[in-house]
Amino acid sequence: MSLKKTVEVSENRRLREDLDAANKRVTAAERQAETAVASLERSRKIAPPRKLKVGKVHSKGDFVEVVVGDIHGNQADPLAMAAFLADLKAIQPDRLILGGDIINCGGFLAEHHTLGYVAESTDSYFDDIAQTNHWLDEIENAAQPTERLYIEGNHEHRVERWVLGQKLAHHKDIEFLRRQFAPELVLNLKARGYDYFKRDTVYDTCGVPGWVKRDGVFFAHDMGLSKNAAAAALSRASANVVFFHTHRADFAATHLPGSGLITAWNPGCMCKRQPLYMHTNPSGWTHGYLVRFISRKTGNFQTVHIIIDNGVSYGGAILHK
Ligand SMILES: [Fe+2]
Repeated sequence: MSLKKTVEVSENRRLREDLDAANKRVTAAERQAETAVASLERSRKIAPPRKLKVGKVHSKGDFVEVVVGDIHGNQADPLAMAAFLADLKAIQPDRLILGGDIINCGGFLAEHHTLGYVAESTDSYFDDIAQTNHWLDEIENAAQPTERLYIEGNHEHRVERWVLGQKLAHHKDIEFLRRQFAPELVLNLKARGYDYFKRDTVYDTCGVPGWVKRDGVFFAHDMGLSKNAAAAALSRASANVVFFHTHRADFAATHLPGSGLITAWNPGCMCKRQPLYMHTNPSGWTHGYLVRFISRKTGNFQTVHIIIDNGVSYGGAILHK
């Protein structure tokens, strides 16, 4: 074979090989395109994400509880209360827990309050009770939970302590005084459907006076005044606990071998954030309340803390879309 012929043959073989390689690349590209089209078609057949129903914040089997405290009657913050009441209307809880100090009783019987307390002497107890009755009416207008609890705080207890301290009075006079002054009676709590839990009575198996237990959580008006009150409450209760009294939102959680997961919550208060007796000290108080979603199937629950700030509920995005 001549040299020219040999070069031609080798050139033809190289061209054939290049052509084969190009054909293979085209076939692979076609397969890839087919796969992409098939996958696109499959994805079109998948149902779009289910739209969440606006305003429905819990599923059917759940039991919903709202917890609020430290309203302080005529010292309540009206904007914070308005925000809370609007949320309450949207939530429609099955249970409402009022955590104590729903009245203020700021001037009346101030000497029975803590050492160094400055009486809000322009306040009258009569006005305070009238205002607290108004808040209870507004709560009733917003929602009608089947279960209602009112835990006595130190402000309610002050009046009871004064009445019961009239040792020389006839028991009929004590009862007469109670009818005139005792928060439980002048707020018509029985007629309003509230169970009233007193600070000097032990309930169920709680073991501590004034404590109440519902669905795995203890409720107590006060668990101390320390800055890290939630962490302190956890170690004192060694159980799930909700407390009030410090007027500051607080949360702590831990998991212990003996108890498993336990949490402590303080929802904050609903009263004016800077009272007279704090003088020039910033109080650090916060507004808010708790919502607890309790599964009737498992007993598990999820607690949500709703912050209210300057009369605006931060739960608004969930509740009022
Ligand atoms: Fe309190």
